[in-house]
Amino acid sequence: MKILVFGPPGSGKGTYASRLSAKLGMPHISTGDLVRDEIKNQTEMGKRINDYSSRGLLVPDNVMCQLLQKRIAQPDCKGGFILDGFPRTIPQAQELEKISTTDLVINLQVPDAVVIERLGARLTCRNCGAIYNERFLKPRTPGRCDKCTGQLYQREDDRPSVIQQRLELYRQQTQPLLEHYASKNQIRNITNNQTDVPP
Ligand code: AP5
Ligand code: MG
Repeated sequence: MKILVFGPPGSGKGTYASRLSAKLGMPHISTGDLVRDEIKNQTEMGKRINDYSSRGLLVPDNVMCQLLQKRIAQPDCKGGFILDGFPRTIPQAQELEKISTTDLVINLQVPDAVVIERLGARLTCRNCGAIYNERFLKPRTPGRCDKCTGQLYQREDDRPSVIQQRLELYRQQTQPLLEHYASKNQIRNITNNQTDVPP
């Protein structure tokens, strides 16, 4: 099964997809994590895309498609995958259709005010990428990941001015893609305006 998880920044795509991945035994591919790994490892590509990510801009389509193709070609994706954060533009959706089918689109609907509240308190593990929240999903030991004891940090793109930019780009470039998947009858909407993370 090939599942896409859609939603604005901070809607819970990473949280939801990682739980679904554990339940279904399918890999969770976050294109944001792929981007952050390139930056962390200081690859040539990482150096070129750092500026886009930290300013909340979309990484160019050709770079993103290259990263995605490489990841989907790995053997663990043969039986399906959960894609979080891709596609975000029409060219990306067209590219995805060339390399894979899709079965289901989960669309997380969360108001901006809740997004801003969540992202202001998000903590991410520097080592494994696990997601926490200072208010709604606290780690057992402050500042440390429950899974790998890695250091927790606040993402550079979680500054308030950058969050606004990311929300704007989502509305302009990504939201229109939903019409395409609606016409294929593949969308399931999940509205979540709560601030509790379900167990
Ligand atoms: P990416 O990392 O994908 O960022 P995003 O789409 O802005 O989404 P986030 O990761 O910020 O939020 P999320 O929806 O995963 O929410 P989360 O589960 O963390 O992309 C980053 C950057 O990479 C982009 O800006 C761009 O530069 C580049 N990029 C990536 N993909 C690209 C592409 N395809 N094309 C071009 N560029 C690309 O949850 C948020 C917080 O809320 C957490 O603290 C969590 O604990 C909490 N939370 C989650 N669910 C709940 C709940 N139900 N109740 C209460 N709190 C909750
Ligand atoms: Mg995410």
